[in-house]
Amino acid sequence: MGKGLSWKRIRDSLFFFGYFFKNPYGLSTPMESSPKITRLTGEELRQHQPSRVIELGAGVGTVTGEILDSLPSDGQLLCIEKETPLFERLQQRINDPRAQLLQGEGQNLRELIKGTPFEKPDAVVSTVPLTIPGSDELCRVISEEVRPDTLYVQLTINNTPMKPYFDILRTYRIRWNLPPEKLHVAQLKTKD
Ligand SMILES: C[S@@+](CC[C@H](N)C(=O)[O-])C[C@H]1O[C@@H](n2cnc3c(N)ncnc32)[C@H](O)[C@@H]1O
Repeated sequence: MGKGLSWKRIRDSLFFFGYFFKNPYGLSTPMESSPKITRLTGEELRQHQPSRVIELGAGVGTVTGEILDSLPSDGQLLCIEKETPLFERLQQRINDPRAQLLQGEGQNLRELIKGTPFEKPDAVVSTVPLTIPGSDELCRVISEEVRPDTLYVQLTINNTPMKPYFDILRTYRIRWNLPPEKLHVAQLKTKD
């Protein structure tokens, strides 16, 4: 998966930037995730060595390439994105037989993965901002669809909705991002 700048990628970034003004709450930022966010996500996944990963809020595929790079050749990735225009860009950008792309809402995860190999995945990577309405429900649904050892990587300023369900193992501060963000690495809560 090429990581360099190409005209296509610049067009995707500009498209994402423009789309922010149509849906500022859903995107939470006019900028795609920074290279530090994608790098840290990849490093976390490579340590955990997942085979089946779910990505929530894939946008135009900014983190998707890094996730694919961290998967084995027989790994599988399910990318879920809510917004039609972003989903269409994602379809144009991601062309990897290991990736399946679905348009939908993370809150409907159970229905989206029922009967697929993505039930009880090895890892979930979410950049859906936990400032959206329904983020409490989103975290609850994720917690019901994972195993105790599933790695949950969540980019968000506000981690409050995660706390009833997940233990946060590590947090990376991402200062050079607009806005500054935090990348949380979590697993299902082991005790109250
Ligand atoms: C902060 S952007 C991240 C985009 C991209 N993954 C990145 O890292 O640059 C959040 C993404 O989550 C999507 N999103 C927002 N709410 C969602 C939901 N309920 N279910 C799925 N995707 C959602 C937005 O459309 C947007 O693409």
